[in-house]
Amino acid sequence: MAAREICKNIYSVGIINWDLRYFDAIMPTPRGSSYNSYLVKGTEKSALVDTGEPHGEADFITNLMRLEQDSLDYIVCLHAEQDHSGMLPLLLEVYPMAKVVTNETCKGLLMAMHHLEELEERFIVVGNEETLSLGDKTFKFYLTPWVHWPDTMFAEVIEDKILFTSDFLGTHYASETLFQNDESPDYLEAAKRYYAAIMMPFRTSVQEYLALVDKIAPKFIGPSHGPVLKLPAKIIDLYKDWSSDKPKNVVVVAYVSMHGSTETMVRILVDDLIQKGVPVHQYNLLETDTGVLGSAIVDAATIILATPTVLFGPHPIAVNAAYLVRALRPKVKYISVIGSYGWGTNAVNYLGEMLSPLGAEVLEPVYIKGLPDETDMQALHKLADTIEEKHKEL
Ligand code: FEO
Repeated sequence: MAAREICKNIYSVGIINWDLRYFDAIMPTPRGSSYNSYLVKGTEKSALVDTGEPHGEADFITNLMRLEQDSLDYIVCLHAEQDHSGMLPLLLEVYPMAKVVTNETCKGLLMAMHHLEELEERFIVVGNEETLSLGDKTFKFYLTPWVHWPDTMFAEVIEDKILFTSDFLGTHYASETLFQNDESPDYLEAAKRYYAAIMMPFRTSVQEYLALVDKIAPKFIGPSHGPVLKLPAKIIDLYKDWSSDKPKNVVVVAYVSMHGSTETMVRILVDDLIQKGVPVHQYNLLETDTGVLGSAIVDAATIILATPTVLFGPHPIAVNAAYLVRALRPKVKYISVIGSYGWGTNAVNYLGEMLSPLGAEVLEPVYIKGLPDETDMQALHKLADTIEEKHKEL
């Protein structure tokens, strides 16, 4: 990716990975991603904000050379995770005079992960709202732990009203354009996937730092992944909506079925909800990637997991889904588990316990032997009635 100027003497110099299809070996990234890095040239000093993954080091160094960046005073590290710090050891060699500017927590992580103990004198630790002058440009740092690591922070270039936010407000989205297109459905879909997988577990922190962004009122936001944001950006409003405490009138039914019994139960429940006018989305977990499921549960007021029984417990795919839902900590208000068994009877209890840390109200599970009979159908109708009533209270 070529170096591109965002505003006078501030450049995006990171790299695009068009072919990335999984991030962290968990999250599908159908639109690839970028590892953003920013070069800020002041009249007296220059600084790089973050580095990136080593796989693109040739392009990265080429970008810096094109900008005739043969010396560097500071490397600002907003977050230690390797996708942003992976090239730090290389850059400390390329720029032997450069100092690493970061917070205390990030410094500890960087030194431990990259074995930089012998270079400790090259670190400068900054605190919340501390500033650093580059001449005609001044950084102001904001400590913003838990979006999404304990070390994360923002850096503002005060004079240019640009805010670098690390992973916050990013998107796994490879794009030839420097700035985001708010109306692109692909971009918005990728942004929601990203929010679900990376930011949703930290909703309270997200709310807090959205308020901070509002207060800073930047003209540009440079995240560590995806396009640069120009304000007012739709994505800010979407983040406010996604991270709000109020779920939407939506039911997510995620299921796996072996012989069709569980699928029959799902059909009955989903059909009931459709007839009642309750918005419901059904996902076959065999064909649903974790990004789609993660996005689906961002807003849902109710999540139903449906599983057959394999040996003594739930189907492993349902366990995987339950683990994901628990880890992502959506704002779901109601959960339930339904399913079918032959002789082993512990599937529903197992999944119910897995989901209990979410703190959602558990609606009466429906757990039946084989295919549903009339009594079982009544139990499913009752579950649909309960969901309808509960959703009226949202
Ligand atoms: Fe993009 Fe938390 O690293």
